[in-house]
Amino acid sequence: MQPESPPRRPLLVANWKMNGLHGDGLARASALAHHAASGDCAGDIVVCPPATLLFALRAVFAGTRIALGGQDCHVSAEGAHTGDVSAAMLADAGCAYVIVGHSERRASHGESNAWVAGKSAAAHAAGLTAIVCVGESAAERDAGRALAVIGRQVEDSLPAGATPGNTAIAYEPVWAIGSGRTPGPADIEAAHAEVRSGWERQFSGSGAALRVLYGGSVTARNAGDILDAPGVDGVLVGGASLSADAFWQICQACR
Ligand code: 13P
Repeated sequence: MQPESPPRRPLLVANWKMNGLHGDGLARASALAHHAASGDCAGDIVVCPPATLLFALRAVFAGTRIALGGQDCHVSAEGAHTGDVSAAMLADAGCAYVIVGHSERRASHGESNAWVAGKSAAAHAAGLTAIVCVGESAAERDAGRALAVIGRQVEDSLPAGATPGNTAIAYEPVWAIGSGRTPGPADIEAAHAEVRSGWERQFSGSGAALRVLYGGSVTARNAGDILDAPGVDGVLVGGASLSADAFWQICQACR
């Protein structure tokens, strides 16, 4: 029993990646805020813009149901880390969430599981919910190693203080990101079950409350089927989140 654990309320996360200047970012955020004010969605909505837009979007989302998230944070709270952003800075800018361990950062910045665990710990120390990304490459899936890779990433990318209240895990198969290809429902279900098992191996018995999101080529068209798959507690959306209308349709697909 985990009395501190929240129920598994769906989590719908927009990851704008490195897209959005002041003008178009504000316009997109305003359109989404307008949708959220007038329509219905059964989950929690988070937008993760580029760091340069955080303060501006905090003003746009003030008084709405849309929360703000960062796309990455450093393991340290402050110091000589040119170009990096700390979790405390994200919290100061109005964030409640931060994505860590995205495969694009694991690949282009050489981030290891241990480094990702450090970032998650930094996020928790700043009061942020960490959205920890895991997922296999095409070669790993073709070699029949997808579940083993996912399980290992989950076990090694989480810090000691992780709970279902301060952490969500996003399963994002690398080969599905930006490709227009998605795993079938059975593969998503198996991967999410492995994420939950990996969590339970680390933190005995507390996996039932953990939110496990799917990410990789989620669109307004496929979101309903993906969100209906067993064990899917939300989505992490890249390309389709760059349209306020498309992302809002995804939010509404959450039943
Ligand atoms: P796409 O939705 O563009 O495939 O990106 C997924 C992703 O990487 C979200 O973090």
